[in-house]
Amino acid sequence: MKLSAEVVIQVLKSIKNPDTGRDILREDLVRDLKVNTNTVQFSIVVEGRTPKFLENVESKARELISEKVGAPVDVNVTLETAMIGLGQDIMQGGKVSSKPDFGRATVLAIASGKGGVGKSTVAVNLAVSLVKKGYNVGLVDTDIYGPSIPTMFGIKEEKPRVNQDRKIIPLERFGVKLLSMGFLTDTNQAVIWRGPMVSNAVRQFLSDADWGDLDFLLLDLPPGTGDIQLTIVQTVALTGSIIVSTPQTVALADARRGVAMFQNVNVPVLGIIENMAFFTPPELPDKKYYIFGEGGARNLATELNVPFLGEIPIEVLLRESGDDGVPLMERITESPSAKAFNELADQTLHQTSLYRATMPSQEKIEIVYRS
Ligand SMILES: Nc1ncnc2c1ncn2[C@@H]1O[C@H](COP(=O)(O)OP(=O)(O)O)[C@@H](O)[C@H]1O
Ligand SMILES: [Mg+2]
Repeated sequence: MKLSAEVVIQVLKSIKNPDTGRDILREDLVRDLKVNTNTVQFSIVVEGRTPKFLENVESKARELISEKVGAPVDVNVTLETAMIGLGQDIMQGGKVSSKPDFGRATVLAIASGKGGVGKSTVAVNLAVSLVKKGYNVGLVDTDIYGPSIPTMFGIKEEKPRVNQDRKIIPLERFGVKLLSMGFLTDTNQAVIWRGPMVSNAVRQFLSDADWGDLDFLLLDLPPGTGDIQLTIVQTVALTGSIIVSTPQTVALADARRGVAMFQNVNVPVLGIIENMAFFTPPELPDKKYYIFGEGGARNLATELNVPFLGEIPIEVLLRESGDDGVPLMERITESPSAKAFNELADQTLHQTSLYRATMPSQEKIEIVYRS
């Protein structure tokens, strides 16, 4: 196997902290990753004392990577100590604001230019897939126009409560912790909500809720690239974004605007997903009908130089499970779209690990939370 960032990520995933059982990528200890022809270098950033299992991380990584590649690879690891306390309060525009404390959690916005392309369907099933893979996942439905996440999780009347510390307790379904704009507002009044009101509510969901120890926090954004979306992506400390599109030309044009919106505010686009990519009738498993056109989102990803995260086929059970309140990924593992979501979760894990591992180590203290 040729040496690549993929190989290195795979190997790093197998190096675990025996105390927590979590790998060093999940613990978010890796920075500055650089992979060349036959050399690899990265930093391990720890707070306080270096745990024992990291003492021989360099030789271990060298051994495992060389084994995978089938040739000696030179691996160089720098151990760094993070400055504790910095990054808690950041001066910005004369105001001091605290960034929500998600520790090592990856905060991802799921966005689309256009409505009805399956953004919520993707967010829900991605969340459940990540839970099935053993990650702690929160999901925030910020779509005030059509907060469909409660329906997709079978939540009707229940509202979140507040704990003794006056923190909102997210509802939990199928292992996913949830908060939705739908819990706050009568959706008929949504038209009067403006960007700042929505982003304030979203920020409160993030900072005033008891999320526990999350690995991922997914934000289902309202469709479009207007004032509300822009305000959210500017005020929430996002790790990155995922764009959902169908292969249709009209959807792609909007997806392109979505990518541009994130790039304009320096939020990395971790990938594009093509939903409703094709239809395979159950009785004709070898056929693929490209109802909305073929490969449009994949081509867009190539053109914009953004990772392509995969394609989700049209499936009746996927639509039904959304309406019935039990996500597809909670029901089956073998259907074409279930397999696609499983792969999507793997790709998302890979892209976020790669993104975090290649970040410069000092960027850890540069996360700016604007208000
Ligand atoms: N791949 C798919 N196959 C079948 N139905 C789908 C698929 N993706 C989404 N849907 C259905 O399309 C409708 C719109 O999806 P939704 O996730 O609510 O879109 P958005 O959040 O982008 O507005 C829903 O009824 C959903 O069940
Ligand atoms: Mg939606």
